[in-house]
Amino acid sequence: METVLKIRFADANDAETLAHIAWKSFYDAFADHPRNAPEDMKAYMDEAFSEAAIAEDLADKDAVYFVAELAGKMVGYAKLKQNSREECVAGERPIELCRLYSLSDYIGKGIGKSLMLECLEFAEDEKHDVMWLGVWEYNFRAQDFYKKFGFEKCGEHVFQLGSDPQIDWVLQKRI
Ligand SMILES: CC(C)(COP(=O)(O)OP(=O)(O)OC[C@H]1O[C@@H](n2cnc3c(N)ncnc32)[C@H](O)[C@@H]1OP(=O)(O)O)[C@@H](O)C(=O)NCCC(=O)NCCS
Repeated sequence: METVLKIRFADANDAETLAHIAWKSFYDAFADHPRNAPEDMKAYMDEAFSEAAIAEDLADKDAVYFVAELAGKMVGYAKLKQNSREECVAGERPIELCRLYSLSDYIGKGIGKSLMLECLEFAEDEKHDVMWLGVWEYNFRAQDFYKKFGFEKCGEHVFQLGSDPQIDWVLQKRI
């Protein structure tokens, strides 16, 4: 059986599985945090991770999804968005890393790193000069992870989780 991690572009056929993975990985990462009210989690997730929303996103010409598969099972994904910028972000041709998630059972096993390297390679191939992202101010594990890849804080923005305006740090990295 194949145990090598495979990273590939996602397409319209992945909408159902991707919606499931996106929903589960977000829930597992943030549902237990005391600052996240269940109703705000639900409001955000119902909108962002419905199959229809993911299918629409997959059809967006500026969105690029990568999925990570182990023995044919989807265990993580990343979403990039071209033509997306934030005031504090430098560069002529920035690209946003909108989402990077491993399923909770696979965290710390190299899935995030493989997805990140694929995203950076894509950005380089497409001649982007900066990659940027928003990370929740209380998501210390992800902040450490991004720091390891050379991302640095350039500002903050609001991430609306249901009725809760949360603060995200905006991080960027030159490519
Ligand atoms: C952030 C996330 C994607 C990282 O992916 P991952 O699969 O756990 O990370 P990896 O196993 O690939 O780790 C890659 C490297 O980062 C290191 N690393 C991982 N977590 C770390 C931490 N908390 N502090 C320091 N280094 C860390 C690993 O040791 C590894 O380093 P190495 O290559 O030198 O061994 C993953 O933890 C995740 O899905 N978290 C929940 C969702 C989330 O917060 N997403 C980001 C939203 S902005």
